[in-house]
This record gives sequence, structure tokens and C-alpha cells, in this order.
Amino acid sequence: MANSRILTLNEVIIQKQSAFPYAKGELSRLLMHIGLAAKIVNNKINKAGLETSIIGEVDNVNVQGEVQQKLDVYADEVFSKALQASGIVCGIASEECDEIIVFDDEMSKEGSYVICMDPLDGSSNIDVNVSVGTIFSIYRRISPVGDKVTNEDFLQPGIKQVAAGYIIYGSSTMLVYTTGLGTTGFTYDPSIGEFCMSHYYMVTPKNGQIYSINEGNYVKFASGVKKYLKWCQESDKDTGRPLTSRYIGSLVADFHRNLLKGGIYLYPKTASAPNGKLRLLYECNPIAFLAEQAGGMATDGYGNRILEIQPTNIHQRVPLFVGSKDMVEKAEEFMRENPDD
Ligand code: AHG
Ligand code: MN
Ligand code: MN
Repeated sequence: MANSRILTLNEVIIQKQSAFPYAKGELSRLLMHIGLAAKIVNNKINKAGLETSIIGEVDNVNVQGEVQQKLDVYADEVFSKALQASGIVCGIASEECDEIIVFDDEMSKEGSYVICMDPLDGSSNIDVNVSVGTIFSIYRRISPVGDKVTNEDFLQPGIKQVAAGYIIYGSSTMLVYTTGLGTTGFTYDPSIGEFCMSHYYMVTPKNGQIYSINEGNYVKFASGVKKYLKWCQESDKDTGRPLTSRYIGSLVADFHRNLLKGGIYLYPKTASAPNGKLRLLYECNPIAFLAEQAGGMATDGYGNRILEIQPTNIHQRVPLFVGSKDMVEKAEEFMRENPDD
């Protein structure tokens, strides 16, 4: 039966506003600006196959040493402009920019919030019509209102996030966010141009059947990871193994599938990448916040909760083990029992 009452993102944000500790409506406005930027980027991504001017690489390598795609740059600009236009954000840190961006116009300087973002996640998948995403993370500033923001404002552990979320540009476009009161999902209805609530209170299964990892890196993994993967592949009727392997190569899409179905996503350290690949501020912290709010778990594989890691650098990388609680705990057990050689 069709939903008799459609709730849009903006309506839900306003309804939930009073439950937020600093309820002045600012965070609500900020989330609405993110929703607007998401629609603009979504529109562009949907045309990626038609507009050859927006697919492909730009002649630049970002601070992560990765070749930028045209849509990385486009999404970065759209989200940056929308966040500055909100007047509530005093600065941003983006995966695509070497340094933090300080918004020093009169209105933004008075803003209370800073944002960390991965404007386009999984961007190597754009040209082949595979799901990509945007990830965002919102903190209250530490520096006094009226001053310019500094790096310190961004170097806060993930437990200090006031909100986080992602947009997945997939077979349908969804926006999933949390303000610490559960994880809620909205599906974009292009016929009315609105994100409509589709997943009120997302709860990830405590256990699942899916493991997601780039197994091409197998020979470079620590022995704990190798042994865990073999365990996933072994048959065992009691525990429902072998598990199923699924890996898209867009964190947002891999995480979203596992969140709904139950599963574990791993990006461990490798011999050539001692901190893994994923970025603490732009990817791991927001994803960990959403996972925990849905009843899941996120660690670095060595017993450390992602949200408690104190960042020392805005572009810091960290290994990530995230997903269903029982599965992350099992992987952690293998890591403990097989210390690195
Ligand atoms: P980004 O496109 O923002 O650089 O992120 C890509 C990330 C993440 O989305 C994905 O899970 C991971 O890189 C895939 O890395 P591998 O190709 O090494 O598996
Ligand atoms: Mn990414
Ligand atoms: Mn990216």
C-alpha cells in the first residue's frame, strides 16, 4: 500500500530540531543546504554518460596523490558554495583541498560549525556508471566565534561530531544522516525534486553474510586479516559460512549495502599502505558515527574505536573495520590472535 503521508527531508529535520542540544535551527538549516547541494550534484551525475565534458580526469593530482576526476572538482565546488551560503559554517576541510578552507566573510565568521567532507567518494567509478557518493561530517568549532577557523577546529575526535551523513548516487539517490539520535534514510523522488523519508530508524543486522574487501591486496595483508578471510570462505553450517564477497570500490555504496543487509567492510593496512587508504576525517569518522547509530561497530582492527582516535593531521589515513557488530568483533578476534609479524 502506498504511503499515505510523505515526509520530506526538510520536514523531518525541522521536526527533530527541538531534540538537538543547541536547538537554534542552525543545524537544521545546514542540513537543508547539504540536501540542496546533493540535488545539484545528483543532477550532474545522472547526466555523466551524456555530457562527455563532465566525465574523465582533470590534469591534477590531489593532496592524497590521487588523480582528480572532473566530477570530484565539480562536487567539491557545489558543496563548498552551498556550505558557505548557509552562513552557519566558518570553514571546511575537503579531501580534494590541501589546506582547510576558511570562510572569512562577515556572516560565516560568526558561524558555529565546521565541516569535513569527501565531495565525491568512489570517483573512479563515475565513468562506468557505478554508484558513487558524498560523505559529510559536522562539528562545532573550538575557536571563538568571530575568529578565523584553524586546523585545531578540524582535529577533533569523531565522538565530537554533531551530525554526519552521506548521499549515495545509485540506482536511486539516497541521503542518510544522523544527529546522534539514530540513523535515518531519505530517497530522492526526482518527479517532485525532494528527498522523502524511506528508512525511519535504520538498524543494521547484528550479524550478516557479506564481507567486503579489496582482495587484490591479499598478499600485502597482515596475517590476522588473511586468516579472517579464510575463515569467511570456509564452510560451516552452524555459522552460515561461507560468506558472500561483495566489493564495489565505493565506500559509500559498499557500506550502504552492508548497513541494510548485514555485513563487514574492511580496508586494513597493507605492506605498502601502513595506515590503510581511507581518510579518518572525511570517510571513517562519519561512516563510523552512522554505523554506531544503527547498532553497528567501527574499529581500526586493533581494538581502537574509530570515533575515539585523536586526529593529528586533517588528511590522516586509518585502517577501517566497519559493519555488523558480531562480524567486526570476530575480525578483531583474528587480529588479536595473530599479531603482525
Ligand atoms: P575516493 O574516490 O573518495 O578517493 O575514495 C575511494 C575509496 C573508497 O571509496 C573505496 O572504498 C576505496 O577507495 C577503494 O579503494 P581500492 O581501489 O584500493 O579498493
Ligand atoms: Mn572516498
Ligand atoms: Mn573522494
